[in-house]
Amino acid sequence: MRTRPTLSEHLEASTSPALAGLIGLLARTLLGVGEVVRTGPLAVARGRSGETNPTGDVIHRLDLVAHADVSRALRESQLVGCFASEEEEGLLHGASTTTGPYCVVFDPLDGSNNLDSNGPVASIFGVFERVTPAGTPCSMADVLRPGTDLVAAGYAVFSASTQFVFSTGDGVEVFTLDDMGELRSSGAGLEVPDPGRRIFSVNDGRAHTWAPRVRGYVDTLREGGYTARYVGTMAADVHRLMRHGGIYMHPANEMARARRGKLRLLFEAIPLGYLLELAGGVATDGESPILQVRPGTLHQQVPVVFGSTGEVARFMDFTRS
Ligand code: F6P
Repeated sequence: MRTRPTLSEHLEASTSPALAGLIGLLARTLLGVGEVVRTGPLAVARGRSGETNPTGDVIHRLDLVAHADVSRALRESQLVGCFASEEEEGLLHGASTTTGPYCVVFDPLDGSNNLDSNGPVASIFGVFERVTPAGTPCSMADVLRPGTDLVAAGYAVFSASTQFVFSTGDGVEVFTLDDMGELRSSGAGLEVPDPGRRIFSVNDGRAHTWAPRVRGYVDTLREGGYTARYVGTMAADVHRLMRHGGIYMHPANEMARARRGKLRLLFEAIPLGYLLELAGGVATDGESPILQVRPGTLHQQVPVVFGSTGEVARFMDFTRS
Protein backbone atom coordinates (compact mmCIF):
# COMPACT_ATOMS: atom_id res chain seq x y z
CA MET A 1 0.00 0.00 0.00
CA ARG A 2 2.83 2.42 0.88
CA THR A 3 4.16 2.15 -2.68
CA ARG A 4 1.09 3.84 -4.12
CA PRO A 5 1.64 7.49 -5.08
CA THR A 6 0.59 10.08 -2.54
CA LEU A 7 -1.62 12.98 -3.54
CA SER A 8 1.34 15.38 -3.36
CA GLU A 9 3.44 13.17 -5.65
CA HIS A 10 0.58 12.86 -8.10
CA LEU A 11 -0.12 16.62 -8.13
CA GLU A 12 3.54 17.49 -8.57
CA ALA A 13 3.71 15.28 -11.66
CA SER A 14 0.39 16.20 -13.21
CA THR A 15 -0.48 19.86 -12.80
CA SER A 16 0.88 23.40 -12.44
CA PRO A 17 2.48 24.31 -9.10
CA ALA A 18 -0.27 26.87 -8.38
CA LEU A 19 -3.19 24.52 -9.01
CA ALA A 20 -1.35 21.69 -7.23
CA GLY A 21 -0.93 24.05 -4.26
CA LEU A 22 -4.65 24.85 -4.17
CA ILE A 23 -5.78 21.21 -4.53
CA GLY A 24 -3.30 20.20 -1.84
CA LEU A 25 -4.62 22.93 0.46
CA LEU A 26 -8.23 21.86 -0.14
CA ALA A 27 -7.34 18.19 0.49
CA ARG A 28 -5.58 18.97 3.78
CA THR A 29 -8.43 21.21 4.91
CA LEU A 30 -11.07 18.62 4.03
CA LEU A 31 -9.14 15.93 5.90
CA GLY A 32 -9.43 18.23 8.91
CA VAL A 33 -13.18 18.47 8.32
CA GLY A 34 -13.26 14.65 8.11
CA GLU A 35 -11.54 14.43 11.48
CA VAL A 36 -14.25 16.62 13.02
CA VAL A 37 -16.92 14.47 11.34
CA ARG A 38 -15.28 11.29 12.67
CA THR A 39 -15.23 12.45 16.27
CA GLY A 40 -18.34 14.63 15.99
CA PRO A 41 -20.57 12.52 18.23
CA LEU A 42 -18.04 12.97 21.09
CA ALA A 43 -17.75 16.72 20.69
CA VAL A 44 -19.91 19.75 21.18
CA ALA A 45 -19.98 20.17 17.42
CA ARG A 46 -23.06 18.02 16.91
CA GLY A 47 -26.77 18.44 16.33
CA ARG A 48 -28.67 21.23 14.67
CA SER A 49 -27.57 24.85 15.03
CA GLY A 50 -31.09 26.26 15.02
CA GLU A 51 -30.33 28.28 11.86
CA THR A 52 -31.25 27.77 8.22
CA ASN A 53 -29.03 28.42 5.21
CA PRO A 54 -29.75 30.77 2.24
CA THR A 55 -31.95 28.10 0.59
CA GLY A 56 -33.83 27.22 3.76
CA ASP A 57 -32.06 23.99 4.77
CA VAL A 58 -31.51 23.26 8.44
CA ILE A 59 -27.87 23.99 9.37
CA HIS A 60 -26.09 21.46 11.58
CA ARG A 61 -23.29 22.62 13.88
CA LEU A 62 -20.85 20.58 11.81
CA ASP A 63 -21.94 22.49 8.67
CA LEU A 64 -20.79 25.66 10.44
CA VAL A 65 -17.51 24.11 11.58
CA ALA A 66 -16.77 22.85 8.06
CA HIS A 67 -17.74 26.22 6.53
CA ALA A 68 -15.48 28.07 8.99
CA ASP A 69 -12.51 25.73 8.44
CA VAL A 70 -12.65 25.83 4.64
CA SER A 71 -13.30 29.59 4.64
CA ARG A 72 -10.30 30.25 6.90
CA ALA A 73 -7.99 28.19 4.70
CA LEU A 74 -9.18 29.93 1.51
CA ARG A 75 -9.16 33.41 3.03
CA GLU A 76 -5.53 33.03 4.13
CA SER A 77 -4.30 31.44 0.92
CA GLN A 78 -2.30 33.54 -1.53
CA LEU A 79 -3.92 31.49 -4.29
CA VAL A 80 -7.55 32.49 -3.76
CA GLY A 81 -9.14 35.78 -4.79
CA CYS A 82 -12.68 35.00 -3.71
CA PHE A 83 -14.93 32.14 -2.72
CA ALA A 84 -18.56 31.28 -2.07
CA SER A 85 -20.12 28.72 0.24
CA GLU A 86 -23.49 27.04 0.34
CA GLU A 87 -23.74 28.20 3.96
CA GLU A 88 -23.17 31.93 3.37
CA GLU A 89 -25.34 34.40 1.49
CA GLY A 90 -22.77 36.48 -0.40
CA LEU A 91 -19.37 36.41 -2.06
CA LEU A 92 -16.40 36.08 0.31
CA HIS A 93 -13.03 37.66 -0.41
CA GLY A 94 -9.62 36.17 0.18
CA ALA A 95 -6.82 38.23 1.69
CA SER A 96 -5.45 38.07 -1.86
CA THR A 97 -8.62 39.36 -3.53
CA THR A 98 -6.62 41.50 -5.97
CA THR A 99 -3.98 38.91 -6.81
CA GLY A 100 -5.24 35.38 -6.07
CA PRO A 101 -5.49 33.49 -9.38
CA TYR A 102 -8.32 31.15 -8.34
CA CYS A 103 -11.92 31.44 -7.13
CA VAL A 104 -13.55 28.56 -5.26
CA VAL A 105 -17.16 27.49 -4.76
CA PHE A 106 -17.93 24.87 -2.12
CA ASP A 107 -20.50 22.96 -0.14
CA PRO A 108 -18.74 22.50 3.21
CA LEU A 109 -20.77 19.48 4.35
CA ASP A 110 -23.04 17.85 1.82
CA GLY A 111 -25.70 15.51 3.24
CA SER A 112 -25.44 16.74 6.82
CA ASN A 113 -28.90 15.28 7.50
CA ASN A 114 -27.12 11.92 7.50
CA LEU A 115 -24.89 12.92 10.43
CA ASP A 116 -27.32 11.89 13.17
CA SER A 117 -27.46 8.34 11.81
CA ASN A 118 -23.69 8.15 11.12
CA GLY A 119 -24.31 8.04 7.36
CA PRO A 120 -21.88 9.24 4.66
CA VAL A 121 -21.31 12.97 4.28
CA ALA A 122 -19.00 14.87 1.95
CA SER A 123 -17.40 18.23 1.11
CA ILE A 124 -17.63 19.41 -2.51
CA PHE A 125 -15.61 22.11 -4.30
CA GLY A 126 -15.17 23.69 -7.73
CA VAL A 127 -12.30 25.93 -8.89
CA PHE A 128 -12.41 28.72 -11.50
CA GLU A 129 -9.60 30.93 -12.73
CA ARG A 130 -10.36 34.59 -11.99
CA VAL A 131 -11.71 36.68 -14.85
CA THR A 132 -11.49 40.08 -13.14
CA PRO A 133 -8.12 41.63 -13.95
CA ALA A 134 -5.34 41.10 -11.41
CA GLY A 135 -4.91 44.27 -9.37
CA THR A 136 -8.66 44.74 -8.86
CA PRO A 137 -10.84 42.97 -6.27
CA CYS A 138 -12.65 39.81 -7.37
CA SER A 139 -16.36 40.10 -8.11
CA MET A 140 -19.43 37.92 -8.66
CA ALA A 141 -18.35 37.56 -12.30
CA ASP A 142 -15.55 35.30 -11.05
CA VAL A 143 -17.93 32.67 -9.69
CA LEU A 144 -21.25 33.05 -11.57
CA ARG A 145 -19.84 30.87 -14.32
CA PRO A 146 -20.95 27.75 -16.16
CA GLY A 147 -19.28 24.42 -15.36
CA THR A 148 -17.45 24.53 -18.71
CA ASP A 149 -15.25 27.24 -17.11
CA LEU A 150 -14.07 25.04 -14.20
CA VAL A 151 -10.37 24.22 -14.06
CA ALA A 152 -10.79 21.69 -11.26
CA ALA A 153 -13.42 20.18 -8.98
CA GLY A 154 -13.58 17.48 -6.37
CA TYR A 155 -15.02 16.16 -3.15
CA ALA A 156 -13.97 14.35 -0.03
CA VAL A 157 -16.40 11.67 1.06
CA PHE A 158 -16.39 10.60 4.70
CA SER A 159 -17.79 7.10 4.84
CA ALA A 160 -16.48 3.56 5.43
CA SER A 161 -13.20 5.07 4.22
CA THR A 162 -12.27 8.69 3.57
CA GLN A 163 -11.68 9.34 -0.10
CA PHE A 164 -10.61 12.46 -1.95
CA VAL A 165 -11.82 12.51 -5.55
CA PHE A 166 -10.86 15.27 -7.97
CA SER A 167 -10.08 16.26 -11.52
CA THR A 168 -8.09 19.04 -13.11
CA GLY A 169 -9.75 18.35 -16.46
CA ASP A 170 -8.25 15.03 -17.46
CA GLY A 171 -9.65 11.93 -15.75
CA VAL A 172 -11.15 11.59 -12.29
CA GLU A 173 -8.66 10.48 -9.64
CA VAL A 174 -9.42 8.76 -6.33
CA PHE A 175 -7.16 8.95 -3.28
CA THR A 176 -7.88 7.09 -0.04
CA LEU A 177 -6.75 8.14 3.44
CA ASP A 178 -4.32 5.53 4.81
CA ASP A 179 -3.59 4.66 8.43
CA MET A 180 -0.69 7.16 8.52
CA GLY A 181 -2.93 10.09 7.56
CA GLU A 182 -1.68 10.18 3.96
CA LEU A 183 -3.89 10.30 0.86
CA ARG A 184 -2.74 7.56 -1.53
CA SER A 185 -3.89 6.72 -5.03
CA SER A 186 -6.60 4.06 -5.06
CA GLY A 187 -5.49 2.94 -8.52
CA ALA A 188 -7.39 3.49 -11.73
CA GLY A 189 -9.54 6.60 -11.87
CA LEU A 190 -13.32 6.61 -12.09
CA GLU A 191 -15.01 5.71 -15.36
CA VAL A 192 -18.78 5.46 -15.56
CA PRO A 193 -19.71 2.07 -17.03
CA ASP A 194 -22.22 2.15 -19.88
CA PRO A 195 -24.23 0.05 -19.67
CA GLY A 196 -23.67 -0.02 -15.95
CA ARG A 197 -25.58 -1.64 -13.13
CA ARG A 198 -29.33 -1.26 -13.35
CA ILE A 199 -29.59 1.13 -10.39
CA PHE A 200 -31.91 4.11 -9.99
CA SER A 201 -31.30 6.62 -7.26
CA VAL A 202 -34.02 9.08 -6.30
CA ASN A 203 -36.00 10.15 -3.23
CA ASP A 204 -39.18 8.23 -3.99
CA GLY A 205 -40.95 10.00 -1.14
CA ARG A 206 -41.08 13.07 -3.36
CA ALA A 207 -42.72 11.26 -6.32
CA HIS A 208 -45.99 13.17 -5.83
CA THR A 209 -44.13 16.42 -6.67
CA TRP A 210 -42.69 15.19 -10.00
CA ALA A 211 -44.07 15.76 -13.49
CA PRO A 212 -46.29 12.83 -14.62
CA ARG A 213 -43.74 11.87 -17.29
CA VAL A 214 -40.96 11.61 -14.72
CA ARG A 215 -43.21 9.42 -12.54
CA GLY A 216 -43.98 7.31 -15.61
CA TYR A 217 -40.29 6.96 -16.42
CA VAL A 218 -39.43 5.84 -12.86
CA ASP A 219 -42.28 3.29 -13.10
CA THR A 220 -40.56 1.80 -16.16
CA LEU A 221 -37.38 1.33 -14.11
CA ARG A 222 -39.27 -0.45 -11.32
CA GLU A 223 -41.04 -2.65 -13.84
CA GLY A 224 -37.77 -3.19 -15.73
CA GLY A 225 -36.09 -4.85 -12.75
CA TYR A 226 -33.87 -1.95 -11.64
CA THR A 227 -32.79 -1.83 -8.04
CA ALA A 228 -33.07 1.35 -5.92
CA ARG A 229 -30.15 2.88 -4.00
CA TYR A 230 -30.33 6.34 -2.42
CA VAL A 231 -27.96 7.72 0.22
CA GLY A 232 -29.36 11.27 0.36
CA THR A 233 -25.85 12.79 0.21
CA MET A 234 -25.46 13.91 -3.38
CA ALA A 235 -21.69 13.36 -3.56
CA ALA A 236 -22.05 9.82 -2.19
CA ASP A 237 -24.83 9.03 -4.66
CA VAL A 238 -22.76 10.43 -7.55
CA HIS A 239 -19.70 8.53 -6.27
CA ARG A 240 -21.66 5.26 -6.55
CA LEU A 241 -22.92 6.35 -9.97
CA MET A 242 -19.34 6.90 -11.19
CA ARG A 243 -18.33 3.44 -9.95
CA HIS A 244 -21.34 1.38 -10.98
CA GLY A 245 -23.37 3.41 -13.46
CA GLY A 246 -27.15 3.79 -13.45
CA ILE A 247 -29.18 6.96 -13.01
CA TYR A 248 -29.37 9.55 -10.21
CA MET A 249 -32.12 12.14 -10.09
CA HIS A 250 -33.46 14.96 -7.98
CA PRO A 251 -36.31 15.98 -10.32
CA ALA A 252 -38.09 19.31 -10.45
CA ASN A 253 -40.78 19.91 -7.86
CA GLU A 254 -43.82 20.71 -9.99
CA MET A 255 -45.88 21.68 -6.94
CA ALA A 256 -43.63 24.61 -6.00
CA ARG A 257 -43.72 27.85 -7.94
CA ALA A 258 -40.23 29.14 -7.37
CA ARG A 259 -38.24 26.21 -5.96
CA ARG A 260 -38.43 23.89 -8.93
CA GLY A 261 -35.15 22.13 -8.12
CA LYS A 262 -33.56 21.42 -4.75
CA LEU A 263 -29.87 20.96 -5.44
CA ARG A 264 -27.55 23.94 -5.59
CA LEU A 265 -26.29 24.60 -9.13
CA LEU A 266 -22.99 26.18 -8.13
CA PHE A 267 -22.08 24.25 -5.00
CA GLU A 268 -23.30 20.75 -5.91
CA ALA A 269 -24.57 20.21 -9.46
CA ILE A 270 -21.78 22.01 -11.36
CA PRO A 271 -18.74 20.47 -9.55
CA LEU A 272 -20.26 16.97 -9.44
CA GLY A 273 -21.55 17.27 -13.02
CA TYR A 274 -18.03 18.27 -14.16
CA LEU A 275 -16.55 15.18 -12.51
CA LEU A 276 -19.29 12.91 -13.86
CA GLU A 277 -18.79 14.13 -17.43
CA LEU A 278 -15.02 13.72 -17.17
CA ALA A 279 -15.65 10.17 -15.98
CA GLY A 280 -17.71 9.52 -19.13
CA GLY A 281 -21.22 10.06 -17.73
CA VAL A 282 -23.87 12.62 -18.61
CA ALA A 283 -24.98 15.48 -16.33
CA THR A 284 -28.22 17.34 -17.15
CA ASP A 285 -30.96 19.34 -15.50
CA GLY A 286 -33.44 17.02 -17.23
CA GLU A 287 -33.37 19.10 -20.41
CA SER A 288 -29.95 20.69 -20.99
CA PRO A 289 -26.34 19.86 -20.08
CA ILE A 290 -25.75 21.10 -16.54
CA LEU A 291 -22.28 22.41 -17.43
CA GLN A 292 -23.81 24.88 -19.89
CA VAL A 293 -26.17 26.45 -17.35
CA ARG A 294 -24.83 29.83 -16.26
CA PRO A 295 -25.84 30.60 -12.66
CA GLY A 296 -27.79 33.83 -12.24
CA THR A 297 -27.33 33.84 -8.46
CA LEU A 298 -25.02 32.08 -6.01
CA HIS A 299 -27.70 29.91 -4.44
CA GLN A 300 -29.69 29.03 -7.57
CA GLN A 301 -31.31 25.58 -7.38
CA VAL A 302 -31.78 23.13 -10.22
CA PRO A 303 -33.32 19.76 -10.96
CA VAL A 304 -30.72 17.12 -11.70
CA VAL A 305 -30.69 14.02 -13.91
CA PHE A 306 -27.23 12.41 -13.93
CA GLY A 307 -26.24 9.00 -15.23
CA SER A 308 -24.58 6.61 -17.62
CA THR A 309 -24.98 7.81 -21.22
CA GLY A 310 -27.62 5.24 -22.17
CA GLU A 311 -29.69 5.81 -19.02
CA VAL A 312 -29.87 9.58 -19.48
CA ALA A 313 -30.72 9.13 -23.18
CA ARG A 314 -33.60 6.84 -22.18
CA PHE A 315 -34.81 9.42 -19.63
CA MET A 316 -34.77 12.13 -22.32
CA ASP A 317 -36.55 9.94 -24.88
CA PHE A 318 -39.24 8.97 -22.40
CA THR A 319 -39.91 12.39 -20.90
CA ARG A 320 -39.78 14.31 -24.20
CA SER A 321 -41.86 12.01 -26.40
O1 F6P B 1 -28.31 19.54 -0.87
C1 F6P B 1 -28.52 18.82 0.16
C2 F6P B 1 -28.82 17.38 0.05
O2 F6P B 1 -28.61 16.90 1.34
C3 F6P B 1 -28.03 16.55 -0.96
O3 F6P B 1 -26.78 16.17 -0.56
C4 F6P B 1 -28.92 15.36 -1.09
O4 F6P B 1 -28.67 14.61 -2.23
C5 F6P B 1 -30.28 15.97 -1.06
O5 F6P B 1 -30.17 17.18 -0.32
C6 F6P B 1 -31.30 15.10 -0.43
O6 F6P B 1 -32.55 15.66 -0.68
P1 F6P B 1 -33.90 14.91 -0.31
O7 F6P B 1 -34.08 15.09 1.15
O8 F6P B 1 -34.91 15.61 -1.13
O9 F6P B 1 -33.75 13.48 -0.68
